[in-house]
Amino acid sequence: MIFENVSDLIGGTPILGLPLPSYNSMLLLKMEKNNPGGSMKDRMARSMVEAALQSGRLKPGGVVVESSSGNTGIGLAIAAIDRGLRFIAVVDHHAAPDKIAVMRALGAEIRYVQGEYAENEVAVVERQRLAAELAEQIPGALFMNQSDNPANPAGYAGFVREALAQTQGRLDAFVGCVGTGGSMAGIARGLKQHRAEITTIGVEPCGSIVFGQAGHPYYQSGTGTPKGDTVGLVVDYASIDLGVQVSDAQAFETARYLARRKGILVGGSSGGAIYKALELIHSGRLRGQVLTPVADGGEKYLHTVYNEDWLRERELLDPRIAANLSRWLS
Ligand SMILES: Cc1ncc(COP(=O)(O)O)c(C=O)c1O
Repeated sequence: MIFENVSDLIGGTPILGLPLPSYNSMLLLKMEKNNPGGSMKDRMARSMVEAALQSGRLKPGGVVVESSSGNTGIGLAIAAIDRGLRFIAVVDHHAAPDKIAVMRALGAEIRYVQGEYAENEVAVVERQRLAAELAEQIPGALFMNQSDNPANPAGYAGFVREALAQTQGRLDAFVGCVGTGGSMAGIARGLKQHRAEITTIGVEPCGSIVFGQAGHPYYQSGTGTPKGDTVGLVVDYASIDLGVQVSDAQAFETARYLARRKGILVGGSSGGAIYKALELIHSGRLRGQVLTPVADGGEKYLHTVYNEDWLRERELLDPRIAANLSRWLS
C-alpha cells in the first residue's frame, strides 16, 4: 500500500511482547514511537486538527496554536503541513531540546515563555496563558488546548481498535502515563467498552498532582500535571481503576535497562509506566496480558535520560532499580 500523506502513516504500530513466565504474564509494548512524529501524540494531534476544521472553528489556511512539551507539537506540525495550516508552538525550557529542534525542522514557529524557572519546573501555566493570548491576537488562529479538548481522547480510537485486533481481544490490563490524561481516557474507556474487567492503571511522576498527592518538581517530560497547574478536563477518573506514582530514577533506569538488555529505546515516561506495570505484576495486583504504550522513543532524550553524567549530577542513579528489573524480567 502506498500512502500520499504523512498523516496516513499514523497508527498500525506493532506490539512487542516481553514474556514473564514466572508470573504467567506477558507485558505487551505497543510501539507508539513508530508513528511518523515519533510518539502516540500524532494520533490526538490529527484528531484535534480534524475536529477543529470540521466544526469550522479553524478555517483552511488558519493558524494552529498549542502549548506543548514537544510531542503534541511535533504531531501538530505534521498535521498542519498535511492540511496547509500554520503552526505556532509555545514551549518552555523543560521540553527536551531535541523535540523543539524537530518541531523547528517541521516548520513550526517556536515561542518560548519568559520567566525564571528551576530546571525541573514546568512552566505550563504560563505556556497556556501565552498560547491563549497568541490565539486571541492572531487572525484565524485557534488554541487547541489539549488538556480540555475532547478530540484529544477521541484520537485514540484507532489505538484501541488496533490493540484489540492484535491481541484477539485478549487483554487483562492497561498501564499508561497520565499527562493531559487524553490517551488514558480514550484508551481506558475504549478497552472497558470491550470488556469492563480490563484493569486500567494511570501512572504519573512523583511530584505530579493528578492523583491527589502533593506536588513538587520532576524531570519526566511530557507527563503528569505539575504543582500550580489545574488538572485538565480530559482526565477521566471514572475510567482509571488505580492511579500510581513513579519516581524519576525508576522511570529513567527502566528506560536505560530496556535499551541495554532488550535493544528498545523508550522515552522516560514510558520507562515509568513499564516499571509500574512490572512492579504491579510482581506484587500480584496485575496478571495476564498487560498492555503499555511506548509513548515515545529514547532518541529524544539522549542528552538526559541516556546521559549518565546528567543523571549522576541530579542524583537520579539507583542500582537497586536495575536489580528489581533483572529479578522481574528474568
Ligand atoms: C512522552 C509522553 N509521555 C506521556 C504523555 C502523556 O500523555 P497524555 O497527555 O495523553 O496523558 C505525553 C504527552 O505529551 C508524552 O509526550
